[in-house]
Amino acid sequence: MDFAGSHILSVDQFERADVERIFAVADRMEPYAHRRRVTKVLDGAILGSMFFEPSTRTRVSFGSAFNLLGGEVRETTGFENSAIAKGESLYDTARVLSGYSDVIAMRHPAEGSVAEFAAASRVPVINGGDGSNEHPSQALLDLYTIKSEMAGRGGGIDRLRIAMVGDLRYGRTVHSLCKLLCLFDGVQVVLVSPGELRMPADIVEEMRQAGHQVLESEALEASIAHVDIVYSTRIQEERFSSQEEADLYRGRFRLNQNIYTHHCEPNTVIMHPLPRDSRDHARELDDDLNDNPNLAIFRQTDNGVLVRMALFALILDVADQVDRHARDVNWYTAGRF
Ligand code: NCD
Repeated sequence: MDFAGSHILSVDQFERADVERIFAVADRMEPYAHRRRVTKVLDGAILGSMFFEPSTRTRVSFGSAFNLLGGEVRETTGFENSAIAKGESLYDTARVLSGYSDVIAMRHPAEGSVAEFAAASRVPVINGGDGSNEHPSQALLDLYTIKSEMAGRGGGIDRLRIAMVGDLRYGRTVHSLCKLLCLFDGVQVVLVSPGELRMPADIVEEMRQAGHQVLESEALEASIAHVDIVYSTRIQEERFSSQEEADLYRGRFRLNQNIYTHHCEPNTVIMHPLPRDSRDHARELDDDLNDNPNLAIFRQTDNGVLVRMALFALILDVADQVDRHARDVNWYTAGRF
């Protein structure tokens, strides 16, 4: 695809070569994300960051990524702080705000809302999550992490064995990740969820059409025994009609160090899009895994900055100019990465 000026709304728009291009640019962002070099390639550019649902890492890492390229960030968070609370349509908000920004990152609780906004926007829009539909930048950072974790183990994305665990019905990160995996070959996927929270049938079908082996299960221990990656997810409580309904599923599948030791192959990678629900009744990924070197969750969050920098650099067509506008950092930066 031609990235310059494009919206990023769904992983459906990517071919394998596009994903590889994003990853190649992300690799080149490391000196900047890791604070060895500073670039001003986006000096003067403005990111409109519009998050109408709770968000910490997606919102802040989009902002940081833009800052790291030298650009500035304008934030709107929550409907209550926006004219949408006065009845303004997405169309009008998009027409207005796209006059104030060079690119927009947006999260909204309604499926399809970000695409509707993008259709009215005068600048490129990146989907930071639209309801339970998609979260393309998260899937890209997850796949980038999978690639780098597997490279350290002598593997790749082709022929990957992965278990996805938890709320596969409402979890937009796993929807986008499954679709992205369809661009690769011979993947084995075990989908572990309560029956009511299964992966949507059309996505399962798409993976089978791509030639992948897909198993569905309600048994955690047996499902994680022969995989390279366990990708755990939170019960998406905000998509249920009540907390009581979410409570029916919370805590159903818990991965902790004891289960990991007894059931996983050595060096199985543990992933989660975060936030993990660390309350006692949930704990889908226990804190006792924090010292496990195969816990990749904070490598995922670090990688999110690289991938989002790559998306901005490609969309704003500066990927080949980043190093020309760079210098070394002046301040102390050792030990963080
Ligand atoms: C995810 C999301 O918002 O879909 N979080 C994130 O962006 N990293 C997952 C979640 O909220 O459970």
